Amino acid sequence: MSKRIGVYPGSFDPIHMGHLDLIERCAQLFDEVHVAVLHNETKKGLFTVQERCDMIREVLVQRGHAEYQVSSFSGLLVDFMDEIGATAVVRGLRAVSDFEFEFQMALMNRKLNPKVETVFMMPKDSYTYLSSRLLKEVGSLGGNLSGLLPDIILQRLTDKLHPKADTASG
Ligand code: PNS
Repeated sequence: MSKRIGVYPGSFDPIHMGHLDLIERCAQLFDEVHVAVLHNETKKGLFTVQERCDMIREVLVQRGHAEYQVSSFSGLLVDFMDEIGATAVVRGLRAVSDFEFEFQMALMNRKLNPKVETVFMMPKDSYTYLSSRLLKEVGSLGGNLSGLLPDIILQRLTDKLHPKADTASG
């Protein structure tokens, strides 16, 4: 039987505990899981796509998950899936409000490639209110984000949002 390859696509700007929870759940469903970071020319993120991929890899290795693949993609998700032989897209559903857009995407992806299935998964309930956008906003305003992002990502986010003044110059 061929390998079941799942893709968990997203912006991951940056990865947070809700994403991570979902990624770890995916391992129970697939032989191989690809975390795929969208390279979107028209939407500049806080972190570069390279930084996002590196951070995801770092966190996964730190948590003992070196087996996950992490890559970036541009263009259509279904084309990327074709390239890597994936048949399923994993998307997280946090609340009913996520459903409408996710439903549209799932059906559009099916229209583009009828072999593609979308699997919706719920993150741990204590993470259902997390979004990268909200975390960036709260972080930029100095709010406490501990426990909502892996420690190394929280550190990167803090460094990015509040760069230390260059004290070396005289
Ligand atoms: O984390 P996000 O921003 O909600 O992820 C959205 C993502 C990356 C899954 C979606 O925008 C996507 O798949 N983009 C790739 C382009 C594409 O295939 N668009 C048609 C989707 S129906």
